[in-house]
Amino acid sequence: MLPLRKISPLILLAVMSTVGCRIDMHVQPRYNPLAKSDFFADQRAARPLIAGTVARGDERADTYFYTGKNGSVLGEQMPFPVTKEVMRRGRERYNIYCSPCHSRLGDGNGFIPSRGFPQKPPSYHIERLVKAPIGHFFDVMTHGYGIMLDYSAQISPHDRWCIAAYIRALQLSQNATLADVPQGQDVPSKAPEFLEPGTGATLPQLAPAPNTSEKGESK
Ligand code: HEC
Repeated sequence: MLPLRKISPLILLAVMSTVGCRIDMHVQPRYNPLAKSDFFADQRAARPLIAGTVARGDERADTYFYTGKNGSVLGEQMPFPVTKEVMRRGRERYNIYCSPCHSRLGDGNGFIPSRGFPQKPPSYHIERLVKAPIGHFFDVMTHGYGIMLDYSAQISPHDRWCIAAYIRALQLSQNATLADVPQGQDVPSKAPEFLEPGTGATLPQLAPAPNTSEKGESK
């Protein structure tokens, strides 16, 4: 009989080779990405999502919030209360994403149209858009309008509503009358206007600009 000392390397080799031949999760039947399959009728191994699949956290049960529509009719109301925070957010997002074309005032005189963009946007202050339901503004941002592309990838539904609320405020600001001023509140005399640099928008000057010399003062 061979001494154990001599056969032990053989035993070790035998054990190692059987362990190395395991076929379980190391080698499993699977398709390479986008490989052809004979199993499915359309021969695609990569299967499309089953109709009606809903991603986790994306149920979208509140359809008005995501469409601005009740059925197929554009809605007139905000889906959440309009607070100061909502208006601040709307103003910030509007100034970032919309003002380059629509101007900070919403009159359509942004600097992109002034540099040769194929079409000037309409002013938000025309009668048709003043009367348009707020859902229309949400819908334009969600799906685009005419040659204007949509902003659904850049701006979340919540922020689109904030912007829509801010556009309503812009419209009010341009069409307000004395009757809109709450009783007992002072109306400041009309502020001098100035041109917002780079936007083409005319804005009221709220605070006196620095370095303005008094009339008649010598230089
Ligand atoms: C690159 C320039 C550009 C930007 C940025 C832009 N728009 Fe427009 N927008 C246009 C143009 C051009 C039109 C007119 C499209 C047409 O009638 O074919 C338009 C039209 C509109 C209209 C009018 C739709 C109607 O009923 O006539 C609304 C409302 C509007 N945009 C909202 C927005 C909002 C809100 C944003 C920001 C999220 C935005 N736009 C950003 C160029 C732009």
